[in-house]
Amino acid sequence: MTPRPRVTDLTLAQKASLLTGATFWSTASFSELGIGEVVLADGPNGVRRQLQGTDHLGLYHSEPATCFPPAVAIGSSWSRDVAAAVGRALAIEARALGVDILLGPGVNIKRSPLGGRNFEYYSEDPLLSGVLASAYVESLQAGGVGASLKHFVANDQETDRMVISSDVDDRTLREVYLAPFERVITESKPATVMCSYNKINGIHAAENRWLLNDVLREEWGFEGAVVSDWGAIRTRPAALAAGLDLGMPGPGEFATAAVIGAVEAGEIDEATVDDAAARVLALAAYSNSDRSTADWDAHHDLARRLAVECAVLLKNENNTLPINQGASILVVGEFAKEPRYQGGGSSHVNATRVDIPLDEMRILAEECDVQVAFAQGFQTDSAENETLRAHAVAAARLADTVIVFAGNPESEESEGFDRSRLELPESQTELINALAEVARRVVVVLANGGVVTLEGWHDRVDAILEGFLLGQGGGKAIADILFGAENPSGHLAETIPVRLEDTPAWLTFPGEQGHVRYGEGVMVGHRYFVTADRPVRYPFGHGLSYTTFSTDSLAVDVTAHDSLEATVTVTNTGSRAGAHVVQVYLSTGVGPVIRPRRILAGFDKIHLEPGQSKHVVVELDRRVLGYWDIDRKQLIVSPGLYTVQVAESASTVLLEQTVEVDGDFLPVTLTLQSETGSWLDDPVAGPQLRARMQAVIGSSGEEPVDGSDGTAMMRGMPMNQILSILGGAIDGDWLLSLVAQPETGRNQP
Ligand code: GLC
Repeated sequence: MTPRPRVTDLTLAQKASLLTGATFWSTASFSELGIGEVVLADGPNGVRRQLQGTDHLGLYHSEPATCFPPAVAIGSSWSRDVAAAVGRALAIEARALGVDILLGPGVNIKRSPLGGRNFEYYSEDPLLSGVLASAYVESLQAGGVGASLKHFVANDQETDRMVISSDVDDRTLREVYLAPFERVITESKPATVMCSYNKINGIHAAENRWLLNDVLREEWGFEGAVVSDWGAIRTRPAALAAGLDLGMPGPGEFATAAVIGAVEAGEIDEATVDDAAARVLALAAYSNSDRSTADWDAHHDLARRLAVECAVLLKNENNTLPINQGASILVVGEFAKEPRYQGGGSSHVNATRVDIPLDEMRILAEECDVQVAFAQGFQTDSAENETLRAHAVAAARLADTVIVFAGNPESEESEGFDRSRLELPESQTELINALAEVARRVVVVLANGGVVTLEGWHDRVDAILEGFLLGQGGGKAIADILFGAENPSGHLAETIPVRLEDTPAWLTFPGEQGHVRYGEGVMVGHRYFVTADRPVRYPFGHGLSYTTFSTDSLAVDVTAHDSLEATVTVTNTGSRAGAHVVQVYLSTGVGPVIRPRRILAGFDKIHLEPGQSKHVVVELDRRVLGYWDIDRKQLIVSPGLYTVQVAESASTVLLEQTVEVDGDFLPVTLTLQSETGSWLDDPVAGPQLRARMQAVIGSSGEEPVDGSDGTAMMRGMPMNQILSILGGAIDGDWLLSLVAQPETGRNQP
């Protein structure tokens, strides 16, 4: 095994050329030094390996590969195992196709349902996003392929994505947008992190030293390479100085010359080049010479099985689903024949094969003696829709159940642009309502990358199966669920609102004049809807099953000054096997900040046979108990009461238990400029100060604070002003001596 070359063996020119791609998809190589190229390729739900024309928009051909369920579906699975299974299989396919670093997963947050790329992200919730991404990265890298965690950070829209500044306050950045990245980086150590196109508070991510060095490396200990999004670098030396190791795409003669020039001009230390080059060289650890072969058929079956865990049964009145033996059904809609199963843009996969829902339903129908008819019903952008609708309505009169395949056309949502509305195309809503007029029962199956509003037809149908985008095996998965061969177990990872105007980002998305202000702060998604008590059509976490579950015996243990452990027992009380998601939320009012009414604090997904029970343990660490303190610039767990809630969605709590937590010991930094109220409330100085005040002015500041006697006003004044009003009767140095020796040995943050 030839030893890996050291950076010091390379010339400045060679080192500088390592810092920009040699081609669109690979790094520089020096065969004489035993340095091979490292190949990078999209994408998060399937390998997009381009051997001829290259692009980062999904335009040119790529090699056939399995199109697994995109992140929107994996997010709806709420399953670490599902996320890990995708990562494991992608590692095999990436190696088979000669890819060393796979450009995924994406953990940006679905701040608005209008996000064009929401299909490529897991959730509106930072914890759900981070936990699933962690599982994916761990298994992908265990298979020998490096991950590229993206897009770092606050790239939560497509509008003006190359130039817009995401203006986000520090606490929101930390508790929401940085949070999934921090979890994945500290838990699963991705080989690379991809910086985003946008600015964060006015500074491009690619040139943001606070982001790429101070937070990523110094705070979180990231040791991998930072790669740019394709074309995200403006000036290579400035990006290098900020901590950006690998500029993509290549080739990059100008960038290389600029780096050499900056070193020779003394603007950048050569040591900076050495460090970056060393991190790029270290990616060779993922270079896969042995081209393992992939079992494409087995991966297609896997894609099918995973898709089943992702689809969300939203509504199922009178047990309309699964379809009964001997029934007659009418299948309506072009998506039943030409399914939408993935998103557009750089993540687009050349699928090895695609299951057609109608075909898969016909196969099952034969086994269940079900009659299946089909009517087009609508065609995206067709002038024939009135005729198509009339034919479908006529056919609907003859069927027991009508199953409409609807959803967002590809033209409505993709990387590169955001959506303008939440509604389904009019041709579809008109069709659904027309069918509901005549049909005995109506089922709607949805295929969409981001949530759609169900208003205008929701109450007129009997069942709704939200498939989102399920990958190439989605057609079979949907058929299996409709016919009851599989039991749905997906849960919403994104709230379905009633109206767009009810969503927290509505007033600020997608921004103006180069800025988008994250005005909702930490109240993103379900945190807002629940805290503001806004009605939604279906809440975060909602999802039905063909069986039933009971949840009981919640026990909460305080395992440390900043951590809890919740245990609960779940039983399958129905007549068929099924999977259940235990959702644990946390509610507290402690600390000096406004907190969401509850936040997702942990979850687990378990499979249960009929009658089977399982004890589920969910750990709640300081990441969920804490808040980001903008003065102390760190996560702080405040002492006080915390309520652990086990829920079936963000809106419906099943069990709860409140516990006392010590929290972090925070030496109070009282000064004479601090408010008098802070002094009176301090556990050490307060009692002595009150006694001295009682003696001096006959009032200890304990009178009822009704404002009439001036106590409230006094509490709000700086201590030194009160001391001067008291004319020296209380000595400032004495006061300061009371708090000079902070207690030690207690729980430090
Ligand atoms: C694209 C995407 C990024 C992708 C890269 C390479 O613009 O933003 O997710 O990995 O370029 O295609």
